[in-house]
Amino acid sequence: MMLSRVLARLDVGLDHSIERLFELLKYKSVSTDPEFRENCRETADWLVKDLKTIGFDASRRDTIGHPVVIAHHDGPNADALHVLFYGHYDVQPVDPLALWEDDPFNPKIKERNGHKVISARGASDDKGQMMTFIEAVRAYKQETGQLPVRVTILLEGEEESGSSSLYSLFEMYGNELKADYALVCDTSMWHRDTPSISVSLRGLLGEEVIINAANRDLHSGYYGGAAANPIHILARILADLHDQNGRVTILGFYEGVEEIPEQILTAWKALNLEARQFLKPIGLSLLAGEKGRDLFELVWTRPTAEVNGISGGYEGDGFKTVIAAKASAKVSFRLVHKQNPLKIRKAFRTFVRSRIPADCTVEFLDHGASPAIQLSFDSPLITCAKTALSEEWPNPAVLVAMGGSIPVVSKFRSLLGMECLLVGFALDDDCIHSPNEKYDVNSFHKGQRSWARILAALST
Ligand code: BES
Ligand code: MN
Ligand code: MN
Repeated sequence: MMLSRVLARLDVGLDHSIERLFELLKYKSVSTDPEFRENCRETADWLVKDLKTIGFDASRRDTIGHPVVIAHHDGPNADALHVLFYGHYDVQPVDPLALWEDDPFNPKIKERNGHKVISARGASDDKGQMMTFIEAVRAYKQETGQLPVRVTILLEGEEESGSSSLYSLFEMYGNELKADYALVCDTSMWHRDTPSISVSLRGLLGEEVIINAANRDLHSGYYGGAAANPIHILARILADLHDQNGRVTILGFYEGVEEIPEQILTAWKALNLEARQFLKPIGLSLLAGEKGRDLFELVWTRPTAEVNGISGGYEGDGFKTVIAAKASAKVSFRLVHKQNPLKIRKAFRTFVRSRIPADCTVEFLDHGASPAIQLSFDSPLITCAKTALSEEWPNPAVLVAMGGSIPVVSKFRSLLGMECLLVGFALDDDCIHSPNEKYDVNSFHKGQRSWARILAALST
C-alpha cells in the first residue's frame, strides 16, 4: 500500500521535518508591525525555496502589503482531483516579551505538562499547522515520485492583520487558485485524542472609535463639571452596547442570525462542553455574555461585541487631574451565519453618532470586515475527511464549530466557488496569540499523517 509507505516515511522523517519547521520559526514574520516588513518577505522566500525542493512550481507574488506564495504541482494524471491548500506564514506580535520563558523566535523542544512541545511564536498559529500539510506532500513525493492529487498551495502573510491584500490577488490570479476543494489547516482539535472538522467560523468586523471633545487637555478642577469628558461619553457608549441579558443593542444586529438545526444541537450537547472546565484553565469560573445560552453557542454560533482596547487621558504612572481632549476604543464584532458586516458597521456608527454631544466629534477607523462561513455538515468531502482522521487518532473525528475567524475563507466560496475543509491539530493550551505559544510534537507528527491520509482518501 502506497499510503502505509508514506506514513512510515513521515515517522522516520519526523526529526528532519522539525528541523525545517525550526528554520521557518526563526523568521520574525509579524505582519501587523511595519518594522518586520523585510522579515515577512524573507519568510516568503524561504517557503518558495522549500516548496521548490519538493518539485513545486513556486513563486513569490508581491502585493502592496506582504507577499503571497503560490505553488503548483501536477497530479498523477490530467483528470486528477485538484486541491488548494491555504495557510498563513505571518504571526502575531510577541509582546509582552517579558512573559516568555524563551526567545519567541528561537524555537526549542520542551516538555510541558508531560508532553513534548515545540515552543515559539507561530509554532501552532500557523507555521506548524501549515507545515503539517507541506510535510505530508513532501513525503508523498519522496516515497512515490508523485502526488496523489493535483495540489496548489496558497500561503499568505497578512492573515493576522486582516488579509486585505489577498482579495485583489484573487482578481489577478483567481484562475490559478480555483480548485475542486480548499483545504485549510488553521483550527484546533476537540481534545488531544479527538480530531475535529470545523463546520463554521465566525466573521469579524473591526472598528476604532475616536471621540474628540475640548481642543486641548484640560485642568479637571478648572473646567470639571462644565466641560464634556470624552472618556465618560465613550464609556457610556461602550456600556450601552449590551443590555441586561448580554444581548447586543445595535439596531438590526441579529438580522441573519439563525438557530442551529436540532440535530446538530443535540450532537453538540452530547460533546459535554462544560463551562467550568472551559473557564478553569484561564482562571475564571462564571459564564459571561448572553444569558440562557449553552457555552458552545456562546463561543461558536452566537455573535458578539467585544471592546479590545480603550485609551484616553493620563495613563502613565502616578496621577494627573486632567479632562482629556480625546478618548478612543477598538471594538470588534464576531459575526455568524448571514449577518452582513457592512450593514452592521453602518448601524454601529449610527449607534455611536446618536450618543455624541453636538459640540464633540467622532471619527471611525475601519479595521476590516469579513462574514462568517458556514459549511455543510455532511458533504462527501466532510465524510471522506472524517473517515481518514478517525483512522489516525485514538478517537473518531467530531464535527465542531470555531469561534475564531480566518477572513479569507469566505472568499474561497464567494469568489472562487470552492467547498472548504477546515481541519487543524492545535490544542486549547497552545497559547496562540499569547506568550509561550507552543505546538505539540504529537500534533505536528500526527497532523502530517492525517493530511497524508486525507489526500489518499481524496484521490480514490
Ligand atoms: N487561526 C486563527 C483563527 C482561529 C483561532 C480559528 C482559534 C479557530 C480557533 C487565526 O490566525 C486568527 O487568529 N484569526 C484572527 C483574525 C483577525 C486577526 C483578522 C481572529 O480570529 O481574531
Ligand atoms: Mn491562524
Ligand atoms: Mn491567529
